[in-house]
Amino acid sequence: MKATSIPKAKSYPPPHQLATPTELSPQEVRAVAEAVNPLIADAFALYVKTKNFHWHVYGPHFNDYHHMFDEQAGDILDSIDGMAERVRKIGGATIKSVGHISNLQTIEDDNDELVSPEDMVRRLAEDNTRMAKTIHDAIILCDKNRDTATSNLLQDILDKTDRRKWFLFETLQGTIHGT
Ligand SMILES: [Fe+2]
Repeated sequence: MKATSIPKAKSYPPPHQLATPTELSPQEVRAVAEAVNPLIADAFALYVKTKNFHWHVYGPHFNDYHHMFDEQAGDILDSIDGMAERVRKIGGATIKSVGHISNLQTIEDDNDELVSPEDMVRRLAEDNTRMAKTIHDAIILCDKNRDTATSNLLQDILDKTDRRKWFLFETLQGTIHGT
């Protein structure tokens, strides 16, 4: 079997066949692509983690948590294509493989054999909070680099991330105080 190595993900410049014309400067394209590609990697990582918890949750809140995790995973998955296509629309290169995702992700995989339902909610709340911060930072970077369309897209994704944070935070209220 052929040995596989994971090439370092390169956001810019792409091969000339993929250099979509844009009003942005090469420096601006590079800055935006290098900010958005890690967001895509984190979205993939968080999607898998949220589905992991959807599949492995147990206990008296099974029905609520199972459905909440599934809805949140769907939102995360929906965000991916738009971000990747923004990178391509401005002439950057985006994610090509699971290897690229693992190179760029900042949200950690969860390989624990068993996670309590409360810890599932707590870990997802922390991850979504982290994701909201990195999206917010990327919006500021896009604005600085004159990419208002990517900034607009990320604002919508930030709103959906805040919604997940809200649901997870409020769900934790019951578990923390045992009510
Ligand atoms: Fe399912």
